[in-house]
Amino acid sequence: MLSATTNNLTARRSANLYKDVIDGLRAENKHLSSKYFYDEAGDKLFQQIMASPEYYPTRCELEILQHQSAEMARLFLDYSPSFDLVELGPGDASKSWFLLRELQRQRASFTYYPIDISSQVIGWLENKLPVTLPGIQLQGLNGEYLEKMQQVNTFSPNRKIVLFMGANIGNMNVPQATHFCRQLHDNLQPGDLLLVGFDLKKHPRTILDAYNDRQGHTRAFNLNLLHRINHELGGDFDIEQFEHYPVYDPGSGACKSYLISLTAQEVHIGDKTFSFRENEAIFMEISQKYTLEESELMAVQSGFEPVHTFFDSKKWFADVLWQRQP
Ligand code: AVJ
Repeated sequence: MLSATTNNLTARRSANLYKDVIDGLRAENKHLSSKYFYDEAGDKLFQQIMASPEYYPTRCELEILQHQSAEMARLFLDYSPSFDLVELGPGDASKSWFLLRELQRQRASFTYYPIDISSQVIGWLENKLPVTLPGIQLQGLNGEYLEKMQQVNTFSPNRKIVLFMGANIGNMNVPQATHFCRQLHDNLQPGDLLLVGFDLKKHPRTILDAYNDRQGHTRAFNLNLLHRINHELGGDFDIEQFEHYPVYDPGSGACKSYLISLTAQEVHIGDKTFSFRENEAIFMEISQKYTLEESELMAVQSGFEPVHTFFDSKKWFADVLWQRQP
């Protein structure tokens, strides 16, 4: 049976979804937020994307973690022998797992706080990690990143090391990402560390293909949000009448996904009606790409100093370690 608090939480979540969806579909340029991609079906589709031959970022970052975790752990321990390790958007932690194992090997004293918008993710981690990493101190938090980070600050004064990997920062545009890093800065103490995963600029075809895999997982991932709106908010999107349309601009580094309405049509959500013109676009997701220099500029602008860069062998991806400035 669901407890009253779980029910309230579920109600508040769908109220946020409802408000954001209605606002986004009322806007002059229609948009939906990619943070809502990750329901149970969305989590599974994202797993399939990561396993597809075109989607390189996960494999690149996995290579970094598999080969350079020992050095990362050493840098963490140089900062402090004990700390709170906060991970924003851990997914199944299959990458950070290597770092966690290495921290245990090097006898770091730490509590792991994975924060994720997906309750499935948090439940899964709390069950699985203690099995493969015996003795790990872990406390999962289900919710928005900054809100949950503030919560960690209220119950622990320890030094903090924050992991924000997986190129999750790419789901914000550059000004939004800079602002977000500034907010992380504001929730940390001078000297605290932040490890950020940036997907780097590379041949534009390679990038575009990663968001247009041939098996159609990315397409299904985008369309799944329309399914979710139908199920959770009582919408009547005709999914067949929308087409996945990804674009990459090598100048700005912005990779964007749209859903294109194939006909003039009306969609209803509860008592609200939304009209679509033929070929009208819904902006779904940005996956911003960076040069290393652009990432360093962001560090400085948000109050951090870059201290180390970890590349994969192709230099397609970088996990950068930043230190919070006074
Ligand atoms: C999880 C945000 C890193 O933007 O590359 C993958 C999500 N979207 N394919 C990305 C995603 C389409 C992914 N991130």
